[in-house]
Amino acid sequence: MKTEILRPFETKRAAEIIKNGGIVALPTETVYGLGADAFNQTAVRKIFEAKGRPNDNPLIVHIAEFDHIYNLVSDVGKVAQKLLEAFWPGPLTVILHKKPNVPNEVTCGLDSVAVRLPAHPTMREVINLAKTPIAAPSANISGKPSPTSLQHVVSDMNGKIDAILDGGVCQVGLESTVISFLDNVPKILRPGFITVEQIEKVIGKIDIDENVANRTKKTEKIVSPGMKYRHYAPNAEVIILDCFQQKYVDFINSNADESVGALCFDEDINLLKVKAISFGKENDEAAQAKLFFGALRQFDELPHIKKIYARCPKKEGVGLAVYNRLLRAAEFKIKQVFC
Ligand code: TXA
Ligand code: MG
Repeated sequence: MKTEILRPFETKRAAEIIKNGGIVALPTETVYGLGADAFNQTAVRKIFEAKGRPNDNPLIVHIAEFDHIYNLVSDVGKVAQKLLEAFWPGPLTVILHKKPNVPNEVTCGLDSVAVRLPAHPTMREVINLAKTPIAAPSANISGKPSPTSLQHVVSDMNGKIDAILDGGVCQVGLESTVISFLDNVPKILRPGFITVEQIEKVIGKIDIDENVANRTKKTEKIVSPGMKYRHYAPNAEVIILDCFQQKYVDFINSNADESVGALCFDEDINLLKVKAISFGKENDEAAQAKLFFGALRQFDELPHIKKIYARCPKKEGVGLAVYNRLLRAAEFKIKQVFC
């Protein structure tokens, strides 16, 4: 299949392809999504095929105006409504009970649906022009780091999808915060740029799913069998070193050879004796979020690197989202470096 590369203003063409049952990679403020008409079952199935996505992993449905949510759910509820008024449009996804007309292909048979109103004007324009909600997972091959630039999407999806709409570099860089309203207490299923702390300021105490920052029996079940618990992963093995700068640098330099790489902060680069790629400054979690997936992908261009030692981000605020992705890229391998 020939994949059309559309320029940022070619939103009409993108919408037309989606309306006709095709699949198009679209820019959002978080990561690029691979979109299809959410009400076209055949088109939605094509997404799973192009990504190699396990068919038990449901998709997020994107809308362009708040009221469009009522095409997907009958009741939003007061607490969710308050949260959405605070953070939509933006990098926040809510899980609510679905209306029966939402296709099983989107929800993988669940009776809930994930909904997001993105902030990216190009994405919203395409949804409005297509006049239908757009189901879209991240536009990467399943298991690979999510794409945050046109080039990332091209390298994973060229020849497999109808078109890619160029929207430049994604400003947030990590996928949306996912919060479920199915139980009495709202629960974070995936941390993101909208933080737990920000959410609690608006709606009070929430739960955080135990899989967010830990590996549990449930984690393995959720992501298996397709990719076990390996996700967002480069080709090389990733190991997190949970320690301060000096220990990190000493450990790597005393184990340095051609096959070792460092996924580090800006401040570490000049101290390391191995190939080092930074994902931002130590105290700038927003920069880390933006650069993280791109940095992982850069290691795939260095096939001699077999082992990547990663600096550990903060485990709170936006840092929790970066840590959550890094844990999965590392298959939960953490090394405590003492001495
Ligand atoms: O920022 C984002 O969320 C990006 C952009 C494109 O919007 N999309 C994205 O989609 O990250 P994806 O498919 O890579 O991640 C969707 C996550 C998955 O972990 C999926 O299991 C979860 O949302 N999800 C979707 N529907 C769900 C549901 N009904 N219940 C629980 N989790 C759900
Ligand atoms: Mg994804």
